[in-house]
Amino acid sequence: MIRADFALRHAGQLATMVPAPDDPLGRIKDGALAARAGRVVWVGADRDLESQVGLDGDLLDAAGACVIPGLVDAHTHPVFAGSRADEFAERVRGVGYRAQQSGERGIARTVRATREAGVTTLIELAAARANRFLAHGTTTIEAKTGYGLDLDNEARSLEVLRKVAEQTRLRVIPTFLGAHVIPPGVDRQAYVRSLIDEMLPAFRPWAVFCDAWCEAAAFTAAEARAVLGRAKALGYEIRVHAAQLAPGEGPDIAAELGACSADHLEFATPAQIKALAKAGTVAVLCPGANFTTHGPRPPIEAMRESKLPMAIASDLNPGTCNSESLTLAMTLACIQWGMSPVEVLSGATVHAARSLKLEGIAGCLQPGSYADCAVVDVETPEAIPYYVGVNRVLRTVAGGAVWEPL
Ligand code: NIG
Ligand code: FE
Repeated sequence: MIRADFALRHAGQLATMVPAPDDPLGRIKDGALAARAGRVVWVGADRDLESQVGLDGDLLDAAGACVIPGLVDAHTHPVFAGSRADEFAERVRGVGYRAQQSGERGIARTVRATREAGVTTLIELAAARANRFLAHGTTTIEAKTGYGLDLDNEARSLEVLRKVAEQTRLRVIPTFLGAHVIPPGVDRQAYVRSLIDEMLPAFRPWAVFCDAWCEAAAFTAAEARAVLGRAKALGYEIRVHAAQLAPGEGPDIAAELGACSADHLEFATPAQIKALAKAGTVAVLCPGANFTTHGPRPPIEAMRESKLPMAIASDLNPGTCNSESLTLAMTLACIQWGMSPVEVLSGATVHAARSLKLEGIAGCLQPGSYADCAVVDVETPEAIPYYVGVNRVLRTVAGGAVWEPL
């Protein structure tokens, strides 16, 4: 008898996301699962639950709805204050996103609002975002700093992430993105030096990953190489905002450094895609940002051909995609880019988890994995992206307990 302190039963279809020979979703019809101390201890057919599991704790009845692993969002920017709704309206009128990144506008404007906000406000804002993630079935996020852009304010952003992880049920994996843009009014060289000499060594205990935006509007290839090279030497795992708005060396840098993820990749070349696949990097695609900025379709065929794993992320941020809904991102990847429902489901679970070094632990349901799942009102897991911009998540389970909205 397996002992458990939480169980879920009557999942019409339970997608384990552990591929079976005939089913990439490894689904169990009329499935059930059991957990102890926040980890899955048993997954199987509902009819075997009672004979195999001794439950002392809560039982959730999915009543025939589908159950999937808690979604894993591998690219988010949740620590910010202020609004850029007016810039959104401007873009709708035809102004380009790039044209908005000058002077005190765009990212620089969010940096100012974030610095001016008190830490309590920042925590409240980020915690509200965490709750929206959970409401939409996401249980793990990669969370970037990047709107502080100096030693004190980046430290504060990392502190906000720690507090949000403590105060909410969301798993938060912190990424230091001091190399988001050069902050307004600061000398480029001095800023890069402060990243390398001060911020990177100071933040290593707090941030697992280091990211940089390699793009004309942000950091040159030489600067990104210098920052990320130092980060790697200090023990950070690497992510790169690469070839989002124009072709560039971002994907090459990611491959050279054996990055865990190369993100966006709209303008990556076939050779770069091959190099990323060879390096074991995951492509983290951001369909929401691509949609709102009218970006081109990323080279999906080249990625398929090279067997480069494709994760799908919300890219929650105040500029290009103010959304915590990973299921909306999945819908957009299907409709706008022709990815299949199975590809986007894998992209929002197993591939995203791999990019966070949580393969086998998050984004799947098997003994030993996090007892994180979403009960979704859909006919099959593949139908999730078919529902456009409506939240079909009935219940989110995080760490073996049903999450209650605040
Ligand atoms: O992922 N590429 C850079 N960063 C964000 C946008 C940030 C912003 O506009 O505030 C992105 O699209
Ligand atoms: Fe981003």
